[in-house]
Amino acid sequence: MAHTIKIALVGAGMFGGDVHLRAYADLQRFGIAGQLARVGLDKWTRDFAPVQFELAAVATRSEASARRAQAHFKDWTGHEPRAYHGATPWDDILRDIPDLDVLAVATPDNLHTAPILAALGKGVHVITEKPMCLTIHEADEIIAAARAKGLVVSVDMHKRYDPDHLRVRDDIQKRIGAPLYGTAYLEEPLEVATGTFKWVESSDPFSYVGPHWTDLIYSYYHSKPVSLTAVGQKKRLIRDGILAYDAVQVRVDFENGLSMNFHNNWITPPEFEGPVNQGHEIVGADGKVESDQQYRGFRWWNQGDKSRTSNNHFTRDVTRPDGTSAYVGYGVDSLTVGLAAVCRVKFHGETRDAVAPLYPTAEESRISVALIHAAALVRDLNFTYLNEGKGATVTARFGPDGIFIVDPNRADSGVDAVFQQIYDRPI
Ligand SMILES: NC(=O)c1ccc[n+]([C@@H]2O[C@H](COP(=O)([O-])OP(=O)(O)OC[C@H]3O[C@@H](n4cnc5c(N)ncnc54)[C@H](O)[C@@H]3O)[C@@H](O)[C@H]2O)c1
Repeated sequence: MAHTIKIALVGAGMFGGDVHLRAYADLQRFGIAGQLARVGLDKWTRDFAPVQFELAAVATRSEASARRAQAHFKDWTGHEPRAYHGATPWDDILRDIPDLDVLAVATPDNLHTAPILAALGKGVHVITEKPMCLTIHEADEIIAAARAKGLVVSVDMHKRYDPDHLRVRDDIQKRIGAPLYGTAYLEEPLEVATGTFKWVESSDPFSYVGPHWTDLIYSYYHSKPVSLTAVGQKKRLIRDGILAYDAVQVRVDFENGLSMNFHNNWITPPEFEGPVNQGHEIVGADGKVESDQQYRGFRWWNQGDKSRTSNNHFTRDVTRPDGTSAYVGYGVDSLTVGLAAVCRVKFHGETRDAVAPLYPTAEESRISVALIHAAALVRDLNFTYLNEGKGATVTARFGPDGIFIVDPNRADSGVDAVFQQIYDRPI
């Protein structure tokens, strides 16, 4: 029996066209076995060694960008995936390639749900960029569709696979004792908001990159949120006529007592030394962990260029004897785990439930989606009230009875108006 996993990639921009496309190029040439020990799945190295991976199609919004991605892939591998473009190119792919195994989704944040549901509807597994979707209701739809068909929806939560974070999860969080409070920050370059993304007004810095950290914290403690508050600012992008938040800060309180601040922006000036600024720290009852993901002690400068840092752990090129490069790092690891789960289901008869511990699941991402959904509502209300001189008093509460937006400014209309239910099930 031919052991092939056929993948189609929708979205080949800054992230899909780089990390996904390069990872799939290495899979196309050499398979997945060489990546497995990095994610603790090396016991399947021999089983998976014969599995072939084929990038069957790549799709983007415009024909030119689809052709570009197609040409890059051919240069790297000798194999030419079919190129699709348009507003819903996943429909064409799913129609034309009935034996597709995996749809990889790297479209803009607000355009994940449609391709994910289309794929699941056709019995195709999914690897999706974060955030999985933007509302808890969409998350439920995705999970129900995946469960109904026994399909994998693996979310690209690569921060879980950063070696420093694995050490925190498996060792240090036990040493520092019960978590008390912490901060996680991810500050993106101004260029992404003013140049790269055409969709900043349909997202915001917390929806865009906050899930990296909310997911990481969930992977450490498996503790659900009980409440949050959120504020955002609009002072920089507005200068360029862009009606989007510059920065968003969200404080989440978790069942285990941890109070965590998430700080995100996409307005870091180009003079900053690294690609992004990021890190997190947690204070526990018996200690503290600090992890600077941006400056890990590696820095250089040279004549004609200023001081620079780089994150060699995310992805790096490892030169092969033939002069080409293997692409490895935690940025690839989070794709590897989802594909390993798909291989177990397709070739080894495993169930969706049995493979769930292998990869960041849709069910786990639902927690992050609940946070970005509620934070967006709270942030907008607080933004309005702050501008009216009423302070930022709006919060959200999560409980067994669902999600409530708590707005004391509605007190005049009675208690029921203060607690507005947006979701009626436990998260
Ligand atoms: N995991 C990470 O660290 C990471 C980093 C950056 C971006 N992302 C995520 O990846 C996704 C894409 O981000 P990006 O930085 O590549 O954005 P981008 O704007 O550079 O690229 C978006 C891509 O989607 C395509 N697209 C847009 N509308 C489409 C449609 N209707 N059908 C098919 N393709 C369409 C565009 O042609 C483009 O190829 C976002 O969800 C983002 O949050 C993840």
